[in-house]
Amino acid sequence: MWVRFAYHVVGMISELPISIRLSPECEAALLERFLKAEAMALWTVRSAQLQDVPSNVYTFLRKHEEDEQKHLAQFESLIGRQPRERDRLPAVPRQWPVLAVQIYGYESLGLEFARLLLTLRPDLASILEDELVHVGFFEREVRRLLCGSSDVAEQARASARAWWRRLPRTVERYVKAPVLDPFRQSLSTHILETIERRFVTTGLLNNKEALKG
Ligand SMILES: [Fe+2]
Ligand SMILES: [Fe+2]
Repeated sequence: MWVRFAYHVVGMISELPISIRLSPECEAALLERFLKAEAMALWTVRSAQLQDVPSNVYTFLRKHEEDEQKHLAQFESLIGRQPRERDRLPAVPRQWPVLAVQIYGYESLGLEFARLLLTLRPDLASILEDELVHVGFFEREVRRLLCGSSDVAEQARASARAWWRRLPRTVERYVKAPVLDPFRQSLSTHILETIERRFVTTGLLNNKEALKG
């Protein structure tokens, strides 16, 4: 059912099933990471609404904000505390093509973690369902940008290359926990390969750029 749903929502990109089986002791570490990541997603979506974005995007971002708010509340109640406070929203790129790629990238990363979470917590399936919708929306927007003027398309591709170069360190931070040690290598490889495949398929990266990392 998931594969069918994923195909339907995300369009042309078929979703790779996850073959990594985390041990149950990893659950707490994974939930901790979700608490941070969902807070970051919420702040980013709020910050994005303050930028000059197309009106259909603005409408989507309002619903997106509600979803991330709901996810955050779920993790807060599961863990029993709130994430670290912030004085101000994170800075996001002002140019829409750059911002679109960045949100697409982080949502894709969140989607991979949501898939992992589901292996330990099948009761949290609605999170994965929402993340598929988020990724699907930004994927369509990115494709639209890539079909636009050559300047816009190049801005999106340059943003993707820059984001892609930072990704291994981001992933490394996320998988850094003693309990995740036995899975660290396979997790990083899986996540990087999945996102590489996604970016190459949408046309944001070509294979050679991806290999250079
Ligand atoms: Fe989320
Ligand atoms: Fe999301």
